[in-house]
Order: sequence, then C-alpha cells, then structure tokens
Amino acid sequence: MSSRLASALVQHIKRIPRTTVLLDNKVDLPFRIKYSVQRGIATREFSGSVAHRQTMASNEHGAWIGAQGAGSLDLRSDVMTVPTPAMLAAVANCSLRDDVFHEDPTTRDLEAHVAQLAGKEAALFVTSGTMGNQVALRSLLTQPPFGVLADHRSHIILYEAGGVSSLTGATVKPVVPKNGIHLTLEDVTAHAILSTDVHACPTRVISLENTLNGMIMPLSEMTRIAAFARAHDIRVHCDGARLWEAAAAGAGTLAQLCAPFDTVSLCFSKGLGAPVGSVVVGDAATLRHARWVRKSLGGGMRQPGFIAAAARVAVDETFSAGLLTASHETAKKVEAAWTGRGGRLVHPVHTNMCWIDVEAHGLTTEAFTGMCADEGLVVSGGRLVTHYQIAQNEAVVLPKLEKVFERILGGA
Ligand SMILES: Cc1ncc(COP(=O)(O)O)c(C=O)c1O
Repeated sequence: MSSRLASALVQHIKRIPRTTVLLDNKVDLPFRIKYSVQRGIATREFSGSVAHRQTMASNEHGAWIGAQGAGSLDLRSDVMTVPTPAMLAAVANCSLRDDVFHEDPTTRDLEAHVAQLAGKEAALFVTSGTMGNQVALRSLLTQPPFGVLADHRSHIILYEAGGVSSLTGATVKPVVPKNGIHLTLEDVTAHAILSTDVHACPTRVISLENTLNGMIMPLSEMTRIAAFARAHDIRVHCDGARLWEAAAAGAGTLAQLCAPFDTVSLCFSKGLGAPVGSVVVGDAATLRHARWVRKSLGGGMRQPGFIAAAARVAVDETFSAGLLTASHETAKKVEAAWTGRGGRLVHPVHTNMCWIDVEAHGLTTEAFTGMCADEGLVVSGGRLVTHYQIAQNEAVVLPKLEKVFERILGGA
C-alpha cells in the first residue's frame, strides 16, 4: 500500500463517528446491551439481570458499522450497502415467531407498514428481489397459454436464471424501447399479443421495471400502459427493486408509483441497505395466492423477525428519512466531474447510478476497473452506483474518482 493511500485511510478511520446504541429487551430476556462503535472497533457490554456480563472488543470483519464499512468505497452496486448499528439494535429487539404460521409480529408489522406506504391491501416478505418477481408473476399467471411482455434489458429476462420460463411456463416477449430509456404505450401496443387465434400465445402480464439502469419510467407512462392492459384483461407487475429511488427523486409518492400495478416487488437490500429481503405488494386475493407460491418455492420462513427488523430500519432510516436524495446528488456530482472533462455517458443520470462510457474514450472496462482499484475504489466497469453509504463517504470517494477521470480525460 502506498504511503499516501495509507495516510488517507488513517484520516478516513479518524473521521468515523462514535455511535452508541442502547438496546433494551425487557419482554423476553431482561438484559441490556450497550453497543458502541469507534474507529471500526465494536465494543459490546452486556449487563442487567442476565447472569453474565461480558465486554468484547472485537470486530475483525468490520460488521455493523454502516457507512464506514465495506460499502463505503464500493461503487459496483447498491447491494454493497452494509447493515448499520441501528439495524443491530432492531435485530436484538425483534420478535422470533413462526412466519409460515403468519405469527411473527415483526414480520407482520413490516408487511403492514410497506403495504400502507405502497397504498396496497397486502404485502408478503420474501428473501430476495428475484423471489419477489417470480412469486408475483407466478401468482398473476394462472391458466396457460400465457406470455409476459417486458423491456429487453429487464432483470426478469436477463438475470433471474430463466425463472419466468421454468417457474411459470410463460413465453417471454422482450421489447426494445424506441426512446432508449423506458417502454412507452406505443412500444407495448406494437408488441402485445391480443389475438384470440388458437395459434397465438396471448400476453397476460406486462412486467415493467422502475428504475431500470437507474432511469425512471414516468408515472404518466406507467398509467397509460396499465390502462391499456386493463382494457385487454392483462395484469401488470412492476419490478420495483429500486422504485424507492424513483419516489426519492420526486417521480411520485410510493403509493402513486405503485397504483398502476397489480403487484409490485420492492427490495430492502439494494439502496435501502438492509442485509436481506424484499416484499411483494398487491391486493389481498393475489397476495393470499402469493403466500402459497412462496411456500411452494421453499420461501416460507420460520423465524425471519431478525431480517424483517433490519429491513424496517432500512425503510424508516434510509427511505423515509431521506438518505436516498443525497445519493442522487452524489451521482450528479460524479456526472459533472466526468462530463465536465468531456466524458460521455451511456445513460442519463436520474437517480443513484452514473453510467460513464469508458470505451468511448478508448479504455477497456478492465483497465478502468484497475485504475479505480489503484485509488482504493471498487468498481466493475463504467456503472458507478452512488448508494447512500457512498454519499456519506463522498468527501473521500469524489476526489479519488476525479483523479481517475483526470488520468483518462485530463483536467476539467
Ligand atoms: C432491478 C432488479 N430487480 C431484481 C433484482 C433481484 O434482486 P436479488 O438479487 O435480491 O434477487 C435485482 C438485483 O440486483 C435488480 O437489480
């Protein structure tokens, strides 16, 4: 490690704030844990009526330190956000009852809270965004023949291990949006299969993704597409893994953005920073069926209260308290640093992703990744994701990126 990098790291560690979280669990186990984090070292102190008292000074994995953890220099994805001390506090206070029997208060509270935020009747906690999408689609597609229409770049087509085909048997229709940003009603009407001819495989679900590659599909377009779908007895799903970002960017409230859809899947473990989990929202009847589908996929969970508790903190502290907006501002600063030096973009910056076109400037993605690694930044090609923990560490990350940009493009 170079001496400059070493001294930058020392400065970085010195800036780590002292965080103290007091956990009180008076109901099941009357003990108190004092948990403090300073300079990456976690100290836990157990006291109270529990027989043992223990003080530990260890955190070899750098866990539970939030923005100061592994995610703070990692721009590969917002899945790199790491859990925070507040999440640990919530984990220690959660209920641990059986959720297959639908008896766990922490999980039920989370579902009720997100259903309310989304303006839907019901919600179902699932382990991942992939499971959320697949459970929703399987619940909407009940009687073949059926087809699913989606953007050709959508996660359900490219990155879910072919689940739509293998789990539902649907024919998938990938559509290229004419505007290069998002599907429009015109794209959908040009490709939806409405025929009742016996040879045809009718479109039964339109699956939209918002945001897609960090770009927002406007509420007005989703509403137009949903109206067309309703008129033709087609159900509408939204892969809303990052719909929170569209809401934070002012595209509508979460409820408004969910209104056009029969089902929406929302992720807690991307930009919101929870370690695990997603949720499907929709009407009560569809969600009753979805609970059945989740079980059939092996997704029923016995005591998921501890992950539901962390997810609730993610909703309250990252989404509802407004941390996503700061991450969008950081993306704009990255964009300005790149385009200000004449750099080209792959996609416009709407939320927390800045896609820089390194190849347009004669660089391979591997070379760019290596140049960032020299500065201590983790990237994988030109997609730079400024999740909220990057925003919290902006004073360290931005100068490093600027240095790399300068090497590629010269000074601003
Ligand atoms: C848009 C979108 N939907 C769904 C998923 C799937 O989420 P998971 O990785 O939790 O299965 C991802 C993952 O990054 C995603 O980007």
